Amino acid sequence: MTGSLADDRLLVCEGLNYSYLNRFPALVDVSLEVRRGEKVALLGANGCGKSTLLKVLDGLVFPQDGRYLAFGEPVTENSLEDEQMSMGFRSRVGFVFQNSDAQVFSPTVREEVAFGPLQLAMTTEEAGQRVDDVLDMLGIADLAERAPFQLSGGQKKKVAIATVLVMNPEILLFDEPTATLDPRTQEWLTELLGHLNSAGKTIVLATHDIHVLDRIADRCLVFGEDHRIVTQGPPQDVLAQRDLLLQVNLIHQHTELPAIIARD
Ligand SMILES: Nc1ncnc2c1ncn2[C@@H]1O[C@H](COP(=O)(O)OP(=O)(O)OP(=O)(O)O)[C@@H](O)[C@H]1O
Ligand SMILES: [Mg+2]
Repeated sequence: MTGSLADDRLLVCEGLNYSYLNRFPALVDVSLEVRRGEKVALLGANGCGKSTLLKVLDGLVFPQDGRYLAFGEPVTENSLEDEQMSMGFRSRVGFVFQNSDAQVFSPTVREEVAFGPLQLAMTTEEAGQRVDDVLDMLGIADLAERAPFQLSGGQKKKVAIATVLVMNPEILLFDEPTATLDPRTQEWLTELLGHLNSAGKTIVLATHDIHVLDRIADRCLVFGEDHRIVTQGPPQDVLAQRDLLLQVNLIHQHTELPAIIARD
């Protein structure tokens, strides 16, 4: 049925072009769809446009050309001026930035994580309970009274993830979530992404971590250094295109690809 198909397409981008300051291209003719319950990975070399696309998807940056629809509604500077539209969109989409420092500003971790819930019409007790639940889930309850800016990089990342999860958004955008984490915490986060997805969350993430791609993504979009999407598909299909991956500088000629690729 076209109706249910249309409802499934939570995010739709058509022919997006974006240049910073109208001078520095970041996205060129980018089209994509994200369906409910998908895990989509954005891949590509440094500077190809992954973070910019996530910022577009979060309504922080507005393309000069093309259309971006979320939940069937256009997301533009104008449409987000409508308070109802903006509240609805912001409560359904959460974004964990590449740099957690940019996201952490309260005197204590507890206040930082409670900030979003308290903006909603939630009682202090309800918000407090939700904060405790999320801190417990992320294993950072012992950091609750610490100052977020005094934490380590990985701890800040967990706090940033907590501030997003506490709002219970349908769509989670992560910009290189595992980048600054130790191997144990990377594994923990990879599992968490799986649990969130099983619980019904739709996930879009930028990553350079091709070794866990089959676990963190159903589908990958690969950017070229010309800021266009050059290929997309399931992880094993994309990783099998070794020449293309070399060409877009996603891998190095000595990179060993993960074992999910069938060997001849
Ligand atoms: N604030 C900015 N002002 C001007 N140009 C910018 C700005 N932010 C990003 N760019 C440019 O836009 C392009 C895309 O950047 P973006 O941050 O989206 O890349 P990325 O794929 O996330 O890279 P990385 O893997 O290094 O995080 C780059 O060429 C970058 O130099
Ligand atoms: Mg980036």
